[in-house]
Amino acid sequence: MRSITDPHELQQQCLSWRRDGLSIGLVPTMGYLHEGHMALMRHARQRCDRLVVSLFVNPTQFGPGEDLDKYPQDHEGDRAKTDSCGTDLLFMPAPGGMYAPDHATWIDVPELGRHLCGASRPGHFRGVCTVVTKLFMLAQPHLAVFGRKDWQQLAIIRRMVRDLDIPVEIIGHEIVREADGLAMSSRNAYLTPDERAAAPAIRRGLVKLADMVRAGERDVEGAKHFLRQEYARELPMGEVDYVELVHPDDITPVSAVTGPVLAAVAVRVGKARLIDNILIEV
Ligand code: PAJ
Repeated sequence: MRSITDPHELQQQCLSWRRDGLSIGLVPTMGYLHEGHMALMRHARQRCDRLVVSLFVNPTQFGPGEDLDKYPQDHEGDRAKTDSCGTDLLFMPAPGGMYAPDHATWIDVPELGRHLCGASRPGHFRGVCTVVTKLFMLAQPHLAVFGRKDWQQLAIIRRMVRDLDIPVEIIGHEIVREADGLAMSSRNAYLTPDERAAAPAIRRGLVKLADMVRAGERDVEGAKHFLRQEYARELPMGEVDYVELVHPDDITPVSAVTGPVLAAVAVRVGKARLIDNILIEV
């Protein structure tokens, strides 16, 4: 596996692969890699000739007071993990290496960013869309894999790619979980042992809610109230950021369940803000 830091070297390498007729897969990450990231890499690996993984803690998607400065890092461990997944090129730009000091161009999909994480983290998805577009322009991938754990992010990237005619296939990958159901996340590292022991309640509550809706519950407000009560009981140290039922594609809240809905939650547990979701097909 080759490891590079210079964005233009990445672009030259990928353009040269394209000239040779090789297909390129991209998995963008912020590092501190776990099995969830590695599942994305293995999936991409099977579908392309050359696999590029990017590792960059993108400052423009963090708001003031968020964990940009504290975001966990393990470059040596990440290097070994990307290598073990058959990555050809690891792109690790320096912290200031992706943006010119007078960077002034932004990509935003505000319609899909009004709710869920977009509401709690103003500007977050603008930063995500901008860096992902830059990575697409640099790596020129034929396909890119994103996790459904960040469902809203995936929906926004799909819309951006469609609207801007970006020639890349976006693949969504299922959520990879710990044995007790907690969605894997780099931010799980922030949890104390007690918080970690309680955190699987996030998933358990979502599964109960999905069962209720599948069994015929159609009262959206009642279902959300049920989930908040579950969390108050099962995860008393958690502070609910949002509990929402939305249309899976346009991420607008539903007032009645008439088709597939996405139940999505964000809960602050200690220093971590944890997100999870479940697609409910009725
Ligand atoms: P990061 O949080 O590092 O996640 C990188 C990719 O891994 C995302 O597509 C995310 O959805 C996926 N992922 C994380 N945990 C997962 C899990 N448990 N199961 C399945 N997939 C999982 O998301 C970002 O970085 C950034 O916003 C990024 C897209 C890299 C732009 O900076």
